[in-house]
Amino acid sequence: MVQFNVNGKIALVTGGTRGIGYDIAEYFVLNGIDTIIITSRKPDACKDAKASLEACAASHGKSVKVISEPCDMANDDDLRRFHAIISSQITKLDILIANAGASYGTPFDKHPVAQVRKILDINITGVFHSVQLFASLLENAGSAQDPSRVIIVSSIVAFASDFKDAYGYVASKAGVAHLGRNLALTLAPRNINVNSIAPGFFPTKMTKYLYANKRQETNYGNPRKRWGQKEDIQNAVLWLCSRESNYVNGINLNIDGGLHLVGTSKL
Ligand SMILES: NC(=O)c1ccc[n+]([C@@H]2O[C@H](COP(=O)([O-])OP(=O)(O)OC[C@H]3O[C@@H](n4cnc5c(N)ncnc54)[C@H](OP(=O)(O)O)[C@@H]3O)[C@@H](O)[C@H]2O)c1
Repeated sequence: MVQFNVNGKIALVTGGTRGIGYDIAEYFVLNGIDTIIITSRKPDACKDAKASLEACAASHGKSVKVISEPCDMANDDDLRRFHAIISSQITKLDILIANAGASYGTPFDKHPVAQVRKILDINITGVFHSVQLFASLLENAGSAQDPSRVIIVSSIVAFASDFKDAYGYVASKAGVAHLGRNLALTLAPRNINVNSIAPGFFPTKMTKYLYANKRQETNYGNPRKRWGQKEDIQNAVLWLCSRESNYVNGINLNIDGGLHLVGTSKL
């Protein structure tokens, strides 16, 4: 019997203070991680999430080091400062989950260009810059048998072309999925695998409005007739970060119940 794990590894989860990022961090804590690093913009959120992960580890009898440090992924200087602080505390990084992201929706005619630019900055530039900065530490951790991993969190709206009113967001999520394939080729010689995941709809702060107001439509429109649950993401990501998936590189994994096949036009 195989039990996937991240035993003894060090992972960084950007946007790890809530939602999908926190769920991934929590599952790493439960499945063997040695050190988990989380970050987001808000210092209080970083502090609270660290306490919550430590409590989770303690209640499951796990010994895990949790590091949290605020950082704005869209701010180049802040990201460099963050990298300097983290790299003074670790000598290798096995896993980078490039998850931090934001969305913005307004109809086409009134959609502010400034918002498109802002979303691209967080969702694409922040992902590229974090991978670039942490590549050396990732290289230190990877081996031919078990490369280090970068997982980029894209979205199903990158592939279902009909998601409404979120112009910067859909472009950014298609962009990072493509960036992931390109980085997979660039970084494979350094024993770093790069894959992306494309979640369908999961109940988080980002999807609060949809969940509250269009739950019926989203359930109806999904081939599996339900929203995603945290376990759906957790298990897929754990596998992608486990030794057993070491030959999987440059893919995008849809985690959406098949939503990409039918699109989001029923919303
Ligand atoms: N929920 C879904 O259905 C769904 C579907 C497909 C893809 N996704 C993607 O999954 C990822 C996580 O989203 P979520 O649903 O978990 O949303 P969420 O609950 O809003 O979480 C977003 C996280 O990113 C952080 N963040 C936002 N802007 C940031 C910035 N500039 N710098 C650093 N951290 C930042 C937030 O913390 P602070 O506010 O403290 O910065 C928070 O920790 C995103 O990339 C999103 O696009 C979500």
